[in-house]
Formats: sequence, structure tokens, C-alpha cells
Amino acid sequence: MWKRWLEYGPFFRTHLLGYPLYVVGSPGLLKPVLGDDSAFEFFVPGKTFTMLISDIRHMQVPEQHAVFRRRLGQALNPGALSRHVMAPLRVVLERHLDAWEAAGRVQLAEACAAASLDVALEVLTGVPLPHSEESRAEVRKLFRTALAGLYGVPLPWLPGTAIHSALRAQRRLMELLGPELDREVAALAGKMLEAEAATATTTSADAEAPMRMLEAQVAAALPFHRTAASGASPAASTTNGAGTNAAAGAAGAAAGLTLSKEQIFERALGVVIASDDTSKHLFFFAVAAAAMLPAVRAQLEEEQKQAMRKHGDELSYGVLNDMPYLDAVIKETIRVFPTAVGGFRRALKDVPVEGGHTIPAGSIVFYSTHLLNASDPALLPRSLAPESRKQQQQKGPAGAAAGGKGAAGAGQPDTGSQAGRRALSRALEGPTGLPAHLDYECRLEEAFRPERWLSDETRPRQFTGFGGGQHLCLGMHVAHAEARMLLALVVRRFDLRLEDPQLLRRVAYFPGPLPRKGADGLLLIPRRLEP
Ligand code: HEM
Repeated sequence: MWKRWLEYGPFFRTHLLGYPLYVVGSPGLLKPVLGDDSAFEFFVPGKTFTMLISDIRHMQVPEQHAVFRRRLGQALNPGALSRHVMAPLRVVLERHLDAWEAAGRVQLAEACAAASLDVALEVLTGVPLPHSEESRAEVRKLFRTALAGLYGVPLPWLPGTAIHSALRAQRRLMELLGPELDREVAALAGKMLEAEAATATTTSADAEAPMRMLEAQVAAALPFHRTAASGASPAASTTNGAGTNAAAGAAGAAAGLTLSKEQIFERALGVVIASDDTSKHLFFFAVAAAAMLPAVRAQLEEEQKQAMRKHGDELSYGVLNDMPYLDAVIKETIRVFPTAVGGFRRALKDVPVEGGHTIPAGSIVFYSTHLLNASDPALLPRSLAPESRKQQQQKGPAGAAAGGKGAAGAGQPDTGSQAGRRALSRALEGPTGLPAHLDYECRLEEAFRPERWLSDETRPRQFTGFGGGQHLCLGMHVAHAEARMLLALVVRRFDLRLEDPQLLRRVAYFPGPLPRKGADGLLLIPRRLEP
């Protein structure tokens, strides 16, 4: 894609997984694609996703999506994280690190995947889990099987396919978790309806008030799941493929509700997918970077010592938020090793976009995090910068005019013009053909530089690791909090030795950077960092 960008610029047609699609990779093009939901709807390529989560209208229909965002925001905003998430998060992560310590060695990718799944299940979804360790182990295994269904052929009726096993796992999960979930959903829905009947007004403070995730999921679904009998819009009520809706509890049924445990379960699975598939890679790359780059590790350790002097053992949301270098390491991890490589939209009408192009109605659009990152003028070599305005003014009117229209900001490379991109293409060296700030394979130390986040001069400006606009990641704060907590604890508890000291130079790539299987042994030498 990067080669195409250099040749054709930030807007071109290609194919991905059999779909013809328009790729966009500049901030100007990104604006309408991510910002205008009357022109572009959220789209998931491949059919397996909608086999597992059959109703995605809460992501597509603007009216439903607005409520979904507002309610989930209440479960994932900093207030909710401080109140409901940070303490159990630490318990789960410390439990995993105890197991790492006892083993003395882990396959890092697998160990991070296990920790991230437990965080998603035990801390984030809010779905009541069984108490016995045996049943919990079964639940974990079933969730893994359900998640694996996303990445196979879409043949749900064919035994042996990942999606066939995933749907079976999902049914078994409903048997295991359904009754308790049903009770909780009915109780929450009943309470909300009572509160609604008691007062018709919602203050802005209510709209921000921290919630637990299950409460937020019910609150997000409730307005759209009533039967005509309750007097609400029948068009908004729904049944989904996985559920019959018959299970709505007593409180819900009395109010004409069609909200079912299956619908809530599917949304909870959506959170596990959004969270697990991303955080496990973030955990892996962040710990691997700390293990592989001594200069990074030394600064992390220094900052942790300072924090321990100031706050002792506390790792609350506020304390973790006060660690700029740790924050920069997490951001740099997502920038260099993005766990989400972009997103898809479908054009709802012909949309004219920057550069005189039109995206025809019905076409699929992919915004590419990689292209935006690779072409970020703040990160490209300064040697390619056009003359600064000051230099131009010193040369007089002729010089100023030459650098006028279409030129990049002072001191930044001009990536908007074909001439600018050709100059960039010539200047890029090395076998990967990537700019140094992304070339982890050949120039890891130059690519991975957390410091760039610490100054306005060098801070990336086209970072879309968490998407943007209408679908900006709702889990952004919690993803940061999880990764900061894990890395802070790892640095405090262990000295690290990678079995393959070149691990990060050899990561696999499809569709983004992924841990390479088998080469990721990590030795953990217990020690206590002294403040
Ligand atoms: C490293 C971790 C994560 C990364 C890199 C990430 C990335 C993203 C990206 C790029 C999008 C936008 C997708 C698009 O534009 O099509 C997104 C959306 C979303 N993410 Fe995350 N995510 C992460 C963790 C999480 C977590 C932990 C949660 C939940 C607890 C979460 C929940 C969501 C949700 C619900 C959306 C959809 C928002 C909407 O449609 O309005 N994410 N994420």
C-alpha cells in the first residue's frame, strides 16, 4: 500500500479479501469518511462477524449509534474506570504476573493473550461469570473458540470450520451464562423503566455519570427494544438471529420489552472482540519493546522509581495518568505496531472528496492507519522539507511565491504533491522502502522512539491508532490504562530477557504486525524495583 501511496497519492482503488475498495490515507480525505455518518456507514467486511453478532444496527443507524456511544461512554470514561475498573484490573493482572513469576518463563504472545482475555471477561464485559474455577476455565475456552470463528471461512453449517465451532461455543456459553444474565438484564431493565417513568428529564450530569458495563449495554439497547404494545416505536424493536427474545424477564415483559439476554450477550461478545483482539497485541509489543530496548527500559524504570517515591504502591487511574514516559511508550507501541490497521465504511451516496474525486454510492472505503502514519509530515525526514516561510521571505517575493500554494507547513516535507512524493520515494533507503519512523525491521531504535510524543515539535499528527470521528474507539482510555498498568507492574517486578534478542525485528505482518509464533520466549527474573 505504501508503494501505491507514493505513486498515486492518498486516494486509490484496490482489492482486499475480494472486495473492490477505495483506500484513503490523508487527513483531508479522512474528515468526511470518519466524520459524516449521513454519507458513510460503519461496515464490517467478511460474513463471520455478523454470524456471531447478528444485529449491528447499533453501530450503523445514527439514532441507535448515538445512544450506544453515550451509554458505553458512561462505562468507559475515566470516572467509571476509576470507580469500577482499576481495582479488579490490578487483581487480574497481578494474578497473571504471579503465574509468570512462578513459571520463570513464558511464551509472551500466549501469556499476553491469556491476560487480555481475562481482563475482557472478568473486568470489562460485566457478564456474570460462574464462581468455580473449573467452569471459568470452560468459559474462557469457549470464548476463545468463539473469537477464533472470526478468522475462518464463512461456512457455518460445515462441521470442522472455525465458524461452526464458534457458533456451537456461543450456544454453550448461553447455556452456561444465560440464566444469571437473564436475571440481571431483567432487573436492570426493570429499574431503568421505573426510573424513566418517575422522571422524564435527563440532566447532563446523568449523561456523564459512571455506569457499570452491563448497565450501559442494557441502557443502550433499551430504547430500541420495545414492542408496539408498550407504545414505543415498533420499527425500532428487533429480533436477532441468535435469540428468540422470549427470555425477556418479568419486569421487561410487563413493559412490553423485547430485549433479550441473547442480544446483550452478543453485545458483550462485541466488547470482548473489540478489546481482546487489540489489547493482547498491545501487551505483547509493549512488553517486548521494554525487554528488547535497554534505553527504553531504563527510562521506564526511572519513572517507576519516581512514582513509587511519590505514591508508594498505588497504581490508580490518576497515578498511572501521571507517568508521561510510560504513556509515550504505549502510544509509540500502537504507532509502530498498530493493532488496528484502519477501518471500513460504505458510502451511502455519491460523495465528492478532496482532490476532485468522487466516492460512488455503495462503494467500500478503507481508511489506512499505516498510510497516515507513514506519511505523517511531523515524522518524515526534515531534509525533505520545503524552505520555511522565513527563508522564503528572506529571498524576497519570488521565493515566497514559489513555496506558496500546495507547499507543506514550514520545515515539513511536502507530501501533498506528486513531486513531493517522488522526492520522498527517492530519499527512502533500505530494503523495506519504509520511512525510518516505521522501519522496525531494519532500524528499530530509530523507529521506536517514545520521546517523540513528549514534545509538540515531534509529536505525530496523523495518528489514527484508535480510529477517529464518529467511531473513535470507546475503549481508548481503558486500553491505555490496562497497558500502562501491565507495563508498570512488569517493570517493577521483573528483569527481562528475550530468548530471541531480535524478536521485534522479526515480527510477522498480516494484516498488521503480529507476534511470530514460537520465537517469543521471555525469561522473567524476579526482583523488586526499589524507589
Ligand atoms: C489497543 C487497544 C485498542 C485499539 C488499538 C482499538 C482500536 C479501535 C479502532 C481503530 C476503532 C475504530 C474502528 C473503525 O473506525 O472502524 C475502535 C472502535 C471501538 N473500540 Fe477499540 N481499540 C482498542 C481497545 C478497545 C477496548 C479495550 C474496548 C472496550 C472495552 C474497545 C471498544 C471499542 C468500541 C466499542 C468501538 C466502536 C466505537 C463506535 O463504533 O462508536 N476498544 N477501536
